[in-house]
Amino acid sequence: MGTLIVGGTVVSGTQSLAADVLMEGSRISAVGARIDPTGHTVVDAKGMLVLPGGIDVHTHLDMPFGGTTSADDYEWGTRAAAIGGTTTLIDFALQTIGKRMQDAYATWRKKSEGKACIDYGLHMAVTDLGKDAAWIDDVDAMVAEGITSFKIFMAYPGVLMVDDATIFELMQRTSKLGALVCVHAENGTVIDAIVHQALAAGKTAPLYHALTRPTVAEAEAVHRVVALSELAGASVYIVHVSSEDAMCEVEAARRRGLPVMGETCTQYLVLSIEDDMGKPGFEDAKYVFTPPLREKKNQDPLWEAVREDVLQVVSTDHCPFRFADQKTLGLGDFTKIPNGGPGVENRMQLMFEHGVNQGRMTVERFVEVTAEAPARIFGMYPKKGVVAVGSDADVVVWDPEAEYTIEAATQSMHTDYSIFEGFKVKGNVRQVFSRGELIVEGGKFLGTVGRGEYVKRGLGEVL
Ligand code: URP
Ligand code: ZN
Ligand code: ZN
Repeated sequence: MGTLIVGGTVVSGTQSLAADVLMEGSRISAVGARIDPTGHTVVDAKGMLVLPGGIDVHTHLDMPFGGTTSADDYEWGTRAAAIGGTTTLIDFALQTIGKRMQDAYATWRKKSEGKACIDYGLHMAVTDLGKDAAWIDDVDAMVAEGITSFKIFMAYPGVLMVDDATIFELMQRTSKLGALVCVHAENGTVIDAIVHQALAAGKTAPLYHALTRPTVAEAEAVHRVVALSELAGASVYIVHVSSEDAMCEVEAARRRGLPVMGETCTQYLVLSIEDDMGKPGFEDAKYVFTPPLREKKNQDPLWEAVREDVLQVVSTDHCPFRFADQKTLGLGDFTKIPNGGPGVENRMQLMFEHGVNQGRMTVERFVEVTAEAPARIFGMYPKKGVVAVGSDADVVVWDPEAEYTIEAATQSMHTDYSIFEGFKVKGNVRQVFSRGELIVEGGKFLGTVGRGEYVKRGLGEVL
């Protein structure tokens, strides 16, 4: 019949409740005290937390970038996510300049076909609205396919960056449709000028990637894009907020009542220039991602912003590249180091340890920022993001006492290093169910490759 999880504490964004959970088929059919176990497979969850499967809304799987392709394809990236307690992710389909959004959508669906181990949705990263007025109608077509969020880059000039007019026109359309614009906010052209000055002065080491991208350039872009969204009447979501300066711009916008939301990522909460960079040789290349690591003084304000709902989501921006043969493309010139780092496997562990165990947030807020708010903002709630009757049976049995050390040698992500090497955490996955199927136990993926389904998302909520 079904699978019954007994004796655990079911956690949502608002409460923790001692309750059993019955999963029948792909859905949750009952949540309550002492459900009759007759005929069901029983999972003893005494002492465990029963969580909605994690949702990571910011990954880059199998993505061509920086002269190479991100190291985790859909199989390896989603397998690693599952092992870490994430049952849904939203990846970025990247529009090629000169080609239509439909082309990117088809390409990314193909990349995932027969490979995805968990469910996944797609954002559309818009790089070109074309000369022909009809191209903007592709936004409507994407919404019909379940892509209800559109990413634009204010950084990476000449590669992915779009101008303000493009952002504004996109926002005019998304506001009409009720869709969301997600923004990589950094002033790309000013950063490029700083970068060229650094290279001309012989500053070519990986550390200069971080030193040439000031926090004010991030804050300026947030400020500008908020203004554009206000002009267009659009909702906006700032991705990978990395600094106090940028976060304060989100806070100011929200204080004014604007529909502005944001995320930060685990790396900005637990790593810093002082603690993790300035290593000998080429080691710092492991930490070359964008925005870069910041000074440690940014961490507390970011934690507070996550706790106080200035930022609603914690994602990973998982964009892995191997050190040995991919990061080394930038030996002698930091601008040629592929930008990105691995993290999809460790988000839940790090947020539980550094958030809940270290007293920075409640376990309910942990669930809210890792699952419930992502589901709500990105149009998947209550199918995903909550342990409730009728929801998909995406459930993590979480052992709050399990101790674990993060190491590249034992991780599932396909990189030859971990940016969290040696980090000790208490609290880890015991079992993961995806649509009622046991897919992870004992740190091993038990499901079949390709079982993951595309999630056709609806319109999201403004939180
Ligand atoms: O360094 C990063 N973050 N690479 C992925 C692309 C992006 O900017 O999100
Ligand atoms: Zn970005
Ligand atoms: Zn990204």
